[in-house]
Amino acid sequence: MCGIVGYLGNDRAYPILIDALKKLEYRGYDSAGIAIWRNGKIEVARKKGKVDELREICASGFEGTMGLAHTRWATHGTPSERNAHPHRAGDVVVVHNGIVENYIELKEGLRKDGHKFLSDTDTEVIPHLITNHLNKGADFAEAVRLSLAEITGSYALGIIHEKDRMLIAAKKESPLVLGIGDGEFFVASDAPALIGRTNRFIFLEDNDIAVMKDGSLRLMDVEGNEVERKVHVLHWSGAMAEKGGYKHFMLKEIFEQPMAISDTLIGRVKEEQGEVEFEELKLPGLKRIKRIWMVACGTSYHACLIGKQMLEANLRIPVEVDIASEFRYRDPIMGRDEMLILVSQSGETADTIAAMKEGKRRGAYVLSVCNVLGSTLARDADGVIFTHAGPEIGVASTKAFTTQVSALYLLMLHMGRKLGLMGNEVVRARIADIKKIPHKLQTLLDGAGSIEELGRKYMGFKNFLYLGRGINFPIALEGALKLKEISYIHAEAYAAGEMKHGPIALIDENMPVVVVSPNDQTYKKTCSNVEEVAARRGNILLFKDTDAHEMAAKANVVFHVPAVPYDLQPIVHIVPLQLFAYHIANLLGTDVDQPRNLAKSVTVE
Ligand code: AGP
Repeated sequence: MCGIVGYLGNDRAYPILIDALKKLEYRGYDSAGIAIWRNGKIEVARKKGKVDELREICASGFEGTMGLAHTRWATHGTPSERNAHPHRAGDVVVVHNGIVENYIELKEGLRKDGHKFLSDTDTEVIPHLITNHLNKGADFAEAVRLSLAEITGSYALGIIHEKDRMLIAAKKESPLVLGIGDGEFFVASDAPALIGRTNRFIFLEDNDIAVMKDGSLRLMDVEGNEVERKVHVLHWSGAMAEKGGYKHFMLKEIFEQPMAISDTLIGRVKEEQGEVEFEELKLPGLKRIKRIWMVACGTSYHACLIGKQMLEANLRIPVEVDIASEFRYRDPIMGRDEMLILVSQSGETADTIAAMKEGKRRGAYVLSVCNVLGSTLARDADGVIFTHAGPEIGVASTKAFTTQVSALYLLMLHMGRKLGLMGNEVVRARIADIKKIPHKLQTLLDGAGSIEELGRKYMGFKNFLYLGRGINFPIALEGALKLKEISYIHAEAYAAGEMKHGPIALIDENMPVVVVSPNDQTYKKTCSNVEEVAARRGNILLFKDTDAHEMAAKANVVFHVPAVPYDLQPIVHIVPLQLFAYHIANLLGTDVDQPRNLAKSVTVE
């Protein structure tokens, strides 16, 4: 779960690589390294810590026009300089994201041939294998190909050779894109890392090997057959990957939500006709779909929990929701007349990809809801709906979540029409509802200054409870996740009615209880739960959308959220909770955009 980047061209490689590496830091940041080729010599620098620490030891800079760089999230071997990439054997230098599963056997064999290892990583076998084949007379590209055939596991690789100005990239089960410039090539773990350098990309497929030299590109597979891949043009601008005056990407991304939701609607909703269409989607005969599964991880899983409620209530099709890491191992009872919806910002989460493979194996129709064009889930699913959130850089997911919920709402309307369950009038009205959301969110954000003060008031507490019901129970889960992951404060979420079955024992004046309480069909029930907390002197933070909330007087803090129809409540109710978590974390001085131990896309199990 690391970030890799490579460059071959006529410009100085060092600033290009460092700049891209900073954008990939969300993938891991326990150590970093760089290798630069110049006049038949490769210079390597590695450092424990973040890319900025690497930059410090490279103060003199490197002058070459080809190189590789890596930011690491440790799997095999502790975070340390000796385990940091690039790894080298003889003339060959490698950066790797993935896991070489048979590295112990390979290492033993290589040791017998006299190879010496300097790190505890699985990766180090790769340059040694390549060197072995070079010693036996293979040329560089062939030596790489033969080495890859010996590896089991996953890899996204950048490889260079000291005596040959050639850049090789290879991919299997870890993401890798090629950026095509004018007489120059880029390699990166994702396309956003290269925003501003090029907008032309090739998304490599499993077993692809790309050989770049003298302005030309050759693509082959591990068997040595030539392959062709399409060049995609992305319309993301350089400014989208900058902080744009905000202190953190997370804050910028919270404030981008009105625009991100508008972008997710554009071109899909036809209000006058009462239709929702997805250009990129060809659903199968929906009448035969007997059951829908929704599978994802983390925040995307919370979007699925909301999706379940929307789809079941409006389409009357049973929906099962699963955490991807559970789904893949539990032998799900799934058949051909079922639909599997996978939700993922990155489209590269290993467990969600495994769930896709499982669904395909069982003959289900697989639909992905994804933010990243060219990602594995976008490419390999039977159908895809893109959330047009733009690049999400902060590790804590914000705008990806609200656009996922928006996309699922659109899917619900689309299916409702196709199944004949909703007439044009109904869909027209419901399109009008979601079209109002960006403006309502903007108003909420414009008036959210008081949340920083709330953060100051609550930053000293060690535990929080979050409560919600119905479609807003996932909002309690998501609000608690936001607080945990960026402020490192313990927070738990419960369905409000479940509190009395255990967690109520925790409540006293030192337990802040965040209550998501819109004026919906469960409002009265939640009022009773607020009473129960108040009776035990719990510290209540009430997020409500009615001026006449019966419990407002019992709450320590009240925050008003715009009233919207039931299915859309999660979108407006999560935003103040995102801001609450953000301000607490910022005031505590944590690393908001790159919280400890986390990575943005979890590409390992
Ligand atoms: C949430 O803030 C996290 N970034 C995490 O839970 C994330 O949602 C999860 O890892 C799934 O990622 P994906 O959407 O890219 O698949």
